[in-house]
Amino acid sequence: MKKEIIITTLFFFISFFYLSAQNRVTINADLGQDTISRHIYGHFSEHLGRCIYGGFFVGEDNTKIPNEKGVRKDVLEALRALKVPNLRWPGGCFADTYHWKDGIGPKSERPTIVNTWWGGVTEDNSFGTHEFLNMCEMLDAEPYLSANVGSGTVQEMAEWIQYVNHDGVSPMADLRRKNGREKPWAVKYWGVGNEAWGCGGNMTPEYYSDIYRQYVTFMADWTNSGGLYRIASGASSGDYNWTEVLMKNIKHNMLDGVALHHYSVIDWSNKGSATDFSEKQYFEIMDRAFEMEELIERHTTIMDQYDPEEKIDLIVDEWGGWYDVEPGTNPGFLYQQNTMRDAMIAGMTLNIFNNHCDRVKMANLAQTINVLQAVILTDEEKMLLTPTYHVMKMYNVHHDALMLPLTVKSDSYKYDDQELPAISASASTDKMGVTHISLVNIDATQSKKLELAIYGKNFSSVTGEILHSDKLQDHNTFSDPERIKPIGFSEFELMDNGISVTLPPFSVVVLACK
Ligand code: AHR
Repeated sequence: MKKEIIITTLFFFISFFYLSAQNRVTINADLGQDTISRHIYGHFSEHLGRCIYGGFFVGEDNTKIPNEKGVRKDVLEALRALKVPNLRWPGGCFADTYHWKDGIGPKSERPTIVNTWWGGVTEDNSFGTHEFLNMCEMLDAEPYLSANVGSGTVQEMAEWIQYVNHDGVSPMADLRRKNGREKPWAVKYWGVGNEAWGCGGNMTPEYYSDIYRQYVTFMADWTNSGGLYRIASGASSGDYNWTEVLMKNIKHNMLDGVALHHYSVIDWSNKGSATDFSEKQYFEIMDRAFEMEELIERHTTIMDQYDPEEKIDLIVDEWGGWYDVEPGTNPGFLYQQNTMRDAMIAGMTLNIFNNHCDRVKMANLAQTINVLQAVILTDEEKMLLTPTYHVMKMYNVHHDALMLPLTVKSDSYKYDDQELPAISASASTDKMGVTHISLVNIDATQSKKLELAIYGKNFSSVTGEILHSDKLQDHNTFSDPERIKPIGFSEFELMDNGISVTLPPFSVVVLACK
């Protein structure tokens, strides 16, 4: 064959490969600028239902469930493997009822507290500041403390900071030493109240801005390690006015992060079952999860107006799916199962966070154990890892990696007369030079053939992992805890300028390219 004919034929095939592809992800592997903070993969642990008691903590004297200083060993092992970067505590709504001094000192002398938000149960405060911060050390996770603004005082918060962070001689540092801890924990992340527009005090944004300024004025930095990171209680989903007022009214040198809470819920008065749902309900939840993209874009547009240099971060410190509680369980405990639908929420949402890592510097899935979209469920001595756990673990390759900008051209996933993009993606290159591409196909019935066009880098080998199951409703149970888990994935072909992949319906895939 003549040289011209070969070139023309090759050109034809390459053009065909790229232009005819319906689904196409174009990755600029040499144009990465922003790092995906590992803190995007944070978790949330509230005194709610069986998250703390029975989930994390079973007590030092428990002889039935193996534990280290009262913390379940199976949970420690699972969360270490997840590489949990930070853990938010003690709430949520609970935080604005919590008085930290009730949870220190000899356990027999600690007063009880009635959990008015969650089930009205009486707690013995046996899991307090020391137990939480020591547990974070065991997990190598940064603590993120949510301080009580709604029913606390400025002094109470200032003293908590002194108690956990002051290395010198002071009333609170001395009290900490008396309680058995010599060195401070150096807690960097502080939430100034939670959901101030609701359970945190039903405040207006104008009033909260003033309260925030007052509290922050007395947050002395005892850490000697680069200062405290102060997070303002942020908007609920699309309350853009909340973000605007905070950005306008709070001095920017007093603010490091503005929070945002967004739950994927169909209807607050009729949330539906976690495991028994129709495709219509699945679509609606995907729609709610996909809203995260618009929420981040709109909230950050407002932030850009007041803070064009992007000094203040957006912190999505509560997100996830929210359904009816499992039948027969306490409605105030928010215990729900976790299916492939939740894996889809997680995969899609984490792709959105990765792609917006210039502003989104931290996020916290609600919640770690036995509550809402949990990564772990426990039943006495039994424990299982949910599909959401597996997605978070597959994605931990993105921790502190360089985000690669990409564009996605995707078929629609249609239900009735509505549609959503079927495919979402994000990509990064880690410190070892390995590029990871995470791909999600939310379509409930159709597999998707997809071309990955990669510019600026050539790969000679690709490996993959997939999370998939037969039915969207599939989930792990205590009698079948490994029904859903990631397996090796090989439905791809490495081409000259990219990779051709076939994604099964409702699947999450992560490719490692070298
Ligand atoms: O995560 C459960 C609750 O949801 C939290 O306590 C609160 O902040 C939010 O409304």
